[in-house]
Amino acid sequence: MTEAKLEAWLEETRSFPPSAAFAKQANAQPSIYAEADADSVAWWRTQADRLVWHKEPTKTLEWDIPFAKWFSDGELNASVNCVDRHVDAGKGDKVAFHWVADAEGESRTITYADLQKLVAQASHALTELGVKKGDRVAVYMPMIPEAVVAMLAIVRLGAVHSVVFGGFSADALSSRILDSDCQFVVTADGAFRRGTAAPLKPAVDEALKSCPNVKAVLVVKRTGGDVEWTQGRDHWWHEIVAKQKTEHTPEYFPAEHTMFIMYTSGTTAKPKGIFHTTAGYLTQVATTHYYIFDVKAETDVCWTAADIGWITGHSYIVYGPLINGVTQIMYEGLPDSGGKDRWWKIIEQYKATILYTAPTTIRTLMKWGEEFPKSHDLSSLRLLGTVGEPINPEAWIWYRENIGAGKCPIVDTWWQTETGAIMATPLPGITATKPGAAMRAFPGISIDVVDNEGNSVGDGEGGYLVITKPWPSMTRGIYGDPERFKETYWSRFAGKYFAGDGAKRDDDGDIWLLGRVDDVMNISGHRLSTTEVEHALVGHPSVAEAAVVGASDDLTGQAIVAFVTLKLSADEQMKDQAPIIEELRVHVSKVISPIARPRQIILTPELPKTRSGKIMRRLLRDVAENRQLGDVTTLMDPTVVNMISGLMGSDDSE
Ligand code: WT7
Repeated sequence: MTEAKLEAWLEETRSFPPSAAFAKQANAQPSIYAEADADSVAWWRTQADRLVWHKEPTKTLEWDIPFAKWFSDGELNASVNCVDRHVDAGKGDKVAFHWVADAEGESRTITYADLQKLVAQASHALTELGVKKGDRVAVYMPMIPEAVVAMLAIVRLGAVHSVVFGGFSADALSSRILDSDCQFVVTADGAFRRGTAAPLKPAVDEALKSCPNVKAVLVVKRTGGDVEWTQGRDHWWHEIVAKQKTEHTPEYFPAEHTMFIMYTSGTTAKPKGIFHTTAGYLTQVATTHYYIFDVKAETDVCWTAADIGWITGHSYIVYGPLINGVTQIMYEGLPDSGGKDRWWKIIEQYKATILYTAPTTIRTLMKWGEEFPKSHDLSSLRLLGTVGEPINPEAWIWYRENIGAGKCPIVDTWWQTETGAIMATPLPGITATKPGAAMRAFPGISIDVVDNEGNSVGDGEGGYLVITKPWPSMTRGIYGDPERFKETYWSRFAGKYFAGDGAKRDDDGDIWLLGRVDDVMNISGHRLSTTEVEHALVGHPSVAEAAVVGASDDLTGQAIVAFVTLKLSADEQMKDQAPIIEELRVHVSKVISPIARPRQIILTPELPKTRSGKIMRRLLRDVAENRQLGDVTTLMDPTVVNMISGLMGSDDSE
């Protein structure tokens, strides 16, 4: 995109001023930025008062780049902070979770008092199985309340959870168990997805063939399917947990005690074990949840539509919301379990006030059509959030208009597994919002956009997103590999955390995330973001989803290859493709510039996505460049890749 085009595009962008109605009752006041800026370390110390401490910290930050310690001489218990404190404060009868099953009509209501009892019992059971402070425990579970209970019980004992998404394969599970030497696994017999019982336990059995150090497996009965049983190693949850005492006396741990590990894919095949410690993490998840989602514990019903197998589930289903004592919806199924309006039914039934989800899901819901949300009363909603990837303005506007009735503020929250909590976002009632922009750093967080040399770029310019000061919930490293931690995040720009994302500041100085920098293309010396081309394609009325990669090209350095899903059935997609392909090429040339005109457009009924819903661009790049395909263990449906490889030859253009 040329400078002029970029400017034109940014100028066209709409800006929504902060809602005055919202501002009146907002948790955050406009002075919050200045207050935090005046002394961000002191500001975070004040925020740490959201936690209940066994021993108050006297220290705040110790910074030995790139290793931070926050509140290091304080002592606390994470599970007490999420559960016991609310019961102690007389709020035991408040609903913590409305759990909604995959099957319509099945649900559970769990109050904070219920949760306290369940966590106490699970803590005793884990102790009986031999779990001690510092031990790593893998959690491989569907979206059922026991998953949250297990996490809280593990941290209550000072053990470390490593939640592995229930959709991962046995291989992925065993490599994660081995990497952090987990000696215990909590799992379920199976999971329900769109009414079908899918087994989970066989994957554990398979994985454990190569994990001799695993001593005990705790199994929740969810589907009631047949399971193989290893005597002495396997234990039913309902047998060993239910018989335990419902009171548990907690121990207290230092602020920097390791709390959990979460694996995330990097540029190499080996996933990185990102680990987080206790007090800094809890402080930032609680603070961000309070201000960004503007939660009122008495009245809000929060729904983070994510899986606990990802950092979003950890921070904004488990720890942030529970510390803040809110009521939540936890949903087991898929967006169309029981029908394409299932989400809207749930929102209507439980009067959800806050919905937090990912752009890819919003686009799916959008593809299904607005008649589904229209047929339900969504007027309880007052705030919407998005996370995980840059959101295309079309999806943002659709979300605002069709789900948020044109009035709910949308918080586009940028963060990472590594950052632990939200880092860049608008604040509802305070900052303006722009479709597609994360806008600015959260109070107390220092973010910059820098050029290749690490110098700050000016307004209207692009570069790399960096974080210039330590923050409480920052990862304390890659489990067992401090060198890789330094190398990956701290070596690109001296003293700055390199996020791996491209970003730009618009003319107002507001921040836009442009996707991973490994996805930035260079076409004949022009820098183009895959995201921008995708935005353009998705802006065409016939396009449902698009993924764009830069494939190497002898002439132009890189050339654009686009994989596009049309809003048509798979059969219709396969009919006469030439006219629509040409139309899309012209469309992209028009929207961005002729430089952005894709060399090749491949129509495909589906895009390959990770199990967390991210489009696997690396894989598409491999397909586009006819390379041998790399690791596909995180892929939702590996056959999609073969199908797309097969389609490559079918584009008859150029
Ligand atoms: C990467 C981190 C944070 C929880 C889910 C993802 C991308 C995340 C946004 C956003 C643009 C975003 C970035 C980031 N990303 N949120 N609001 N706008 N991009 O966690 O799997 O660790 O992925 O997701 O590229 O680096 P993750």
